[in-house]
Amino acid sequence: MIRYLDLQREYRDLQRELDPVVQRVLASGQYILGREVEQFERRWISYCGAAYGLLVASGTDALTLALGASGAVRPGAADEVITSAHGSPYTPMAIVRAGGRPVFADIDPETWLISPASIERVLTSRTRVIMPVHLYGLPCDLKAILAIAEAHRLVVVEDACQAHGARYRAGRWQRVGTLGQAGAFSFYPTKNLGCYGDAGFITSNDAGCIERARVAANGGQPTRNIAVSPGYNSRGDELQAAILSCKLAHLEAWNECRRKLAATYRQRLRGPGLKFQEVPENCEHVYRLFVVRHPQRNQLRAHLRERGIETMVHYPVALHRQAAFAEASQASLPEAERAVEEVLSLPLNPYLSEAEVARIIEAVNEFAAVTA
Ligand SMILES: Cc1ncc(COP(=O)(O)O)c(C=O)c1O
Repeated sequence: MIRYLDLQREYRDLQRELDPVVQRVLASGQYILGREVEQFERRWISYCGAAYGLLVASGTDALTLALGASGAVRPGAADEVITSAHGSPYTPMAIVRAGGRPVFADIDPETWLISPASIERVLTSRTRVIMPVHLYGLPCDLKAILAIAEAHRLVVVEDACQAHGARYRAGRWQRVGTLGQAGAFSFYPTKNLGCYGDAGFITSNDAGCIERARVAANGGQPTRNIAVSPGYNSRGDELQAAILSCKLAHLEAWNECRRKLAATYRQRLRGPGLKFQEVPENCEHVYRLFVVRHPQRNQLRAHLRERGIETMVHYPVALHRQAAFAEASQASLPEAERAVEEVLSLPLNPYLSEAEVARIIEAVNEFAAVTA
């Protein structure tokens, strides 16, 4: 069986580095908001090229806190936040938790990311924020999105939860999470940079935004036990921070490995109907996921399962069609509705062996012959 992802392989590889780090934190007596958190915050903002940053308890919290700290979403005002209809339910969930109203835009048929033309179609006088999601590790069309935001005086909060280290060229190459007013990352264990629990991060070049988020994440208390606003408990965890600092040293090599594997898949996978995500020349993909599209997705998935290959579907239901966001239910968004029927995530991670990659390629290519 080729599992979709086997995190034990990663742990076995890093065990000698990680075990002493974990022991050190356990022995330190400091488990929340200490030296490890400060150190990781400095390292992650330096890696991203952001001026300021904050470690929080999850990617969802990072999005929620970034929206609040941006000042653009005011609780109770039903401020609208435009995001992609194709993606993770956690994105609109964060919008709702911040007191905003998610409004969904359709995706581009080639990149499968939020379409700037569709954003323009769903703008209203209540729109305050655009939240592009760099889905699967590919940066959105930020140039067009930032231009729309500037023209309509909107804030851009990037959902970079799947795009650790991905770069976008706007004049110069910049890492995602640094181009809008704020960026949010998730360090969920399966991410390109993941911890061994839950954690998230807010990046920004605005010191005030990070300071407001820092207070909100710490119970709305600028001073211990003095709350100035109803905040959250989303404090940085020392153990996760220490693990992340250790793993960050590997991120570039892992991302390079992901890109090589993706190039192999792109060169060697074939078959009628099989489609790949288009990567614009000003974007560097980090392949958090390797997703193909196929009109007979369910049959292809069953075919791979029969050959012992586990796959996933990211994501099976368009967000404007999900019960949780029924209030935001919108007219048809055809590209997103088509994508959810066709997307299939193949195993791709730095710990996949060459033999496994070869078996996956063979099994996908065989599908064309089986269905011919
Ligand atoms: C695009 C996207 N946004 C938000 C999240 C939420 O992150 P977390 O699971 O760390 O809360 C995730 C990951 O689950 C994600 O993939």
